[in-house]
Amino acid sequence: MKNLLSIEQLSADEIKDLLALGHQLKAERGQHTVLPLKGQTWALIFSKSSTRTRVSFEVGISELGGRPMFLSFHDIQLGRGEPIEDTARVLGRMIHGAAIRTYGQDEVENFAHYAQIPTINALTDEEHPCQILADLLTLEEVYGVGSWKDMKVAFIGDGDNNMSRSWMWAAKRLGFTLAIGAPDAYLPVEEYRKRIDCPNIIYTTDPIEAVKDATIINTDTWISMGQEDEKQTKELHFLPYQVNNELLSHAAKQHSVFHCLPAYRGKEITAEVLEAFAPVIFTEAENRLHAQKAVLTTLAQNRYS
Ligand code: CP
Ligand code: NVA
Repeated sequence: MKNLLSIEQLSADEIKDLLALGHQLKAERGQHTVLPLKGQTWALIFSKSSTRTRVSFEVGISELGGRPMFLSFHDIQLGRGEPIEDTARVLGRMIHGAAIRTYGQDEVENFAHYAQIPTINALTDEEHPCQILADLLTLEEVYGVGSWKDMKVAFIGDGDNNMSRSWMWAAKRLGFTLAIGAPDAYLPVEEYRKRIDCPNIIYTTDPIEAVKDATIINTDTWISMGQEDEKQTKELHFLPYQVNNELLSHAAKQHSVFHCLPAYRGKEITAEVLEAFAPVIFTEAENRLHAQKAVLTTLAQNRYS
């Protein structure tokens, strides 16, 4: 593993290794004896807002001995139209790695190709791999290592966004059952379903069917970054897909609700449900730090191999 560009590009073993290292780094926080990023500078190039991703990368890079350099898209020449290929070739000669948050998956892939340094997808319109690794880490903390094997996970809301797609690839790689419950127009398109070709993913417009006997009930904002113009139409479609107590009455007995945050109370999740599951939801947020430290450590180790 030279980059983390998507869950799609990871193997099951790579995911399991990252989770094992994430648990270890979490247990050893504050006592790291090895600093794999010592003397290195890692850039965070962001064209979309962020709280969790930015802070967890800045803190994680520092805790591993490196120096984070935050570069807002608007403050560098990228924002004035300098091609990503040129930006990548410049940064590749100066820094040791990069985490990029942007729109197109091709931008992150091109950066990795031209910079020739370890590159991490810190969210694109296509995937949010760092979040899914943190979510799997959280799932294992609550239910046990490898417990996803016999589990049903539900994703309720926009079935065609970065979070649902990363969950889909995790289900494909690890083999757990994933049910996507979304309005017809927001289920993954046929072409994508064929590409993923995964018999353990259920696609349904019925939120109750999706949640039925699920242990993990996931949701995310109905309006992803960059889709603000679609707010009014989308909200009307999504109202029946709110994660509320009535919907949760169909879930498995020992269920947990996951939300990558930021959350919009009264929209995709009720305030009551969010607060009831706050311990696990904010653990997911904290686990961004530990999961990404595992990614950074692995990429730094593989850099010269
Ligand atoms: N979950 C997540 O990626 O949060 P931020 O947008 O705050 O980074
Ligand atoms: N799907 C959301 C995730 C935010 C962390 C978005 O892209 O805005």
